[in-house]
Amino acid sequence: MNNDIERVIYSAAAIQKRESELAQQLSDEYRDKKPLIVSVLTGAVLFTVDLFDKMDIYAQLDFIDVSSYGGGTQSSGHVKLLHDLKHDIKGRNVLVVEDIVDTGRTLKFLIDLLKDRDAKSIKVCSMLDKPEGRVVDVKADYVGFNVPNEFLVGYGLDYKGFYRNLPYVGVLKPSVYAE
Ligand code: PRP
Repeated sequence: MNNDIERVIYSAAAIQKRESELAQQLSDEYRDKKPLIVSVLTGAVLFTVDLFDKMDIYAQLDFIDVSSYGGGTQSSGHVKLLHDLKHDIKGRNVLVVEDIVDTGRTLKFLIDLLKDRDAKSIKVCSMLDKPEGRVVDVKADYVGFNVPNEFLVGYGLDYKGFYRNLPYVGVLKPSVYAE
């Protein structure tokens, strides 16, 4: 699997270090707010777990599944809700955790959905942000790293469902998806 990677962008150590900083910031922000952490399946799971266990506050965890890529490299432009939350979010402080914001379509869809449910506050923490990819106007409140406009895999990010278990974020060799 490692042979399919052109270069590593963020090492496992760099990711862990940045997560500790974000977890500290989020703990300060949410200390008395008992937030509901909403992790967006599937890509954000690895980041969520590592971030969550670094946050020393009362917080609950829930999952939502939306999808627009269908496993390939291009967003289909159509976002679907595949699996809903277990929690009622009315009056809750909600923190959405994403692995990457690219076109922004997924995040826009999610924020609109959660707003309709009368959350007290909605903020977003994304491990990666790819500002050059944006087609809708949406922004994460907390970002791990800004990344270039390349196809990235690892640490939750996939190509056809694979590479999520790489401990780092890297650029996939174009020859892999040109096949
Ligand atoms: C990926 C990623 C984000 C979204 C970002 O999810 O996890 O949720 O795309 O892209 P966007 O800003 O262009 O909408 P995907 O739909 O591939 O599902 P997955 O997490 O299950 O891989």
